[in-house]
Formats: sequence, C-alpha cells, structure tokens
Amino acid sequence: MDLATDIAGIKMKTPVMTASGTFGFGLEYRDFMDINQIGAIVVKGTTLEPRAGNPGRRIAETPAGMLNAIGLENPGVEEFIQGILPKLSTYEVPIIVNISGKTAEEYGELASRLNIPGVAGIEVNISCPNVKQGGIAFGTDRNSAASVVRQVKDNSRVPVIAKLSPNVTDIVSMAQAVEAAGADAISLINTLLGMAIDIHSWKPVLGNIVGGLSGPAVKPVALRMVWQAAQAVKVPLIGMGGIMTAEDAIEFLLAGASAVAVGTANFVNPCAARTVAEGIGEYLQQRGLTQVRQLVGKMITQ
Ligand SMILES: Cc1cc2nc3c(=O)[nH]c(=O)nc-3n(C[C@H](O)[C@H](O)[C@H](O)COP(=O)(O)O)c2cc1C
Repeated sequence: MDLATDIAGIKMKTPVMTASGTFGFGLEYRDFMDINQIGAIVVKGTTLEPRAGNPGRRIAETPAGMLNAIGLENPGVEEFIQGILPKLSTYEVPIIVNISGKTAEEYGELASRLNIPGVAGIEVNISCPNVKQGGIAFGTDRNSAASVVRQVKDNSRVPVIAKLSPNVTDIVSMAQAVEAAGADAISLINTLLGMAIDIHSWKPVLGNIVGGLSGPAVKPVALRMVWQAAQAVKVPLIGMGGIMTAEDAIEFLLAGASAVAVGTANFVNPCAARTVAEGIGEYLQQRGLTQVRQLVGKMITQ
C-alpha cells in the first residue's frame, strides 16, 4: 500500500497533514502519538513579532463545528527558529511553516528568515479572519493575494503554498491569481467568517465578536471549493475543512486534492491525522488500489 504523496517536492509518507493552528507546533502532541506517522506538520500561524492574540473568549462550540478568534497568538519567528524548530527537527516529518504579516513585505521577510534547514515549505496565510491588519484582507482581493505570494516566492528557497479564504464569491479566480503569482501548491480552505450571540447577556460570545467557523459544518463548502479550484489550476491542492474521518478525506481526494489536512478533528481526537491516514489505507486495500494518487480528482460526474 503506497500512501506516499509529493506536494510540490515536499515528500510525505501519508497524504494527511495537520491544519495550521489546530496542532500547536506539533511538539504538544508528542505524548499522544508518534509524530513520525503524520504526513506533514503545518505549524501554528507565525508572525515576525510575538503576538498575544485576541482577548477572550476565543473559542465557542457550534452545532457541527466551532468558532475561533485566536488572533494568531504565537511567540514570533525568532523563538520558532531558536526554541521550537530544533526540537521539531528531530522528527522525520516535513515541517511547513504557516506565516502571516501585516504587509506584503513582512511576508517576504518572514519567508527569507525561514530559508533554513528543517523548514520543508511555507504556507502563506492570506486568509485569517481574526486579525485587524493583513490576514483575510489579502485573501479576498486577487491583486493583494498575488502580491503577497510573489513576495514570498521571491524570498523563499522552499515550496510556497498559498492558503485561500472561503470568504470570497469566486474561489476560482483567487486560485488562478495565486498560481499565476508563483504558488507551488494551494491549501483550501481557511475558516468561514461567523459569529454567535449569548441571548442571556445579549453580548457576542467571542471577545472579537466575529470568528472563523470550522469543522463538519464547513465541509460541503470546502469540498465544492476544492473541486472548483481543481478544474482551474495545475498546481497540487491540499484540501481541508471539516475532515473528521477517512471517508471525509477520501471525498476531498476524489474532488481533486492531492493531500488533506485535519484541523478541528484534532481537538476531538489528538490522533485524528493518523486515524484518517489508516482509514485511507484500508479503503485503498478494499478497492484493490495500491496508490493514493489513484483517487485524486477521480470523481465521476457522468
Ligand atoms: C483554533 C484554530 C486556529 C487556527 N489557526 C490558524 C492559523 O494560525 N493559520 C491558518 O492558516 N489557519 C488557521 N486555522 C484554520 C485551519 O488551519 C483550517 O484551515 C480550518 O480550521 C478548516 O479545517 P477544519 O474544519 O478541519 O478545522 C485555525 C483553525 C482553528 C480551529
């Protein structure tokens, strides 16, 4: 059984990665599972300076999902490089760093600082709905998205993955814009902008008022966007949004994703990425298939 996948030169043992912000920096999960069994770890969103994130409350459960407004809390890129990466590098798993900046230049600077051994790829977060500057503002405009990706590409020696926001009317034009700007792969989707109100206090549940919706509730939207993007671009796609089981992941592969990422499911089961990968292997075996790529983009429409 060959579960191996290659995303723009990033070689993974399984097609199942962890989605940024839902698996910490990876090290937090050492005691729960063998980290080496994950296809790739996409670390928590990292910025040039340390960030404290948004005031609480930052997480709320919703029917079939969750809302979060973490606001990119992270210790900053220097602490990542000095304190975290050396420990992560003892594992064999490719480490992909998810980056965010306030300006296109900041993204470029982050990318150049991350041209170091141990970093297998960069995921450009132009889709965070929970920060005032940068984030989603870049991911909802074709030109801004392209200019951020170009800056990162110009400054990076590793594959560059553009992570798109679903909060747009036309995901295809966004995918085409980042591909034209040089993205080596595309992740989709980030969270959908949402909110919740406490009817007893009449206050918003989240300190930030609005937040990002993730989990099973967003899966049909994510799947549709992966499928639409797959028709329009040539670069490999990483599908995510509500993947809880192997069956969910298989849908994304059939829609055209070459790899998938597990996010919210990690909060339910810290071993979710491994469980999903095992389930894909069993499915392949049952269907008499030997390679995961035999599923990619194979949805039958007629
Ligand atoms: C608590 C939380 C924090 C997140 N932080 C980030 C982040 O820092 N950068 C990013 O690109 N996406 C972030 N995301 C989005 C996820 O990586 C993923 O795209 C999204 O949650 C959809 O997948 P899921 O439904 O499997 O969770 C975060 C999501 C959650 C739930």
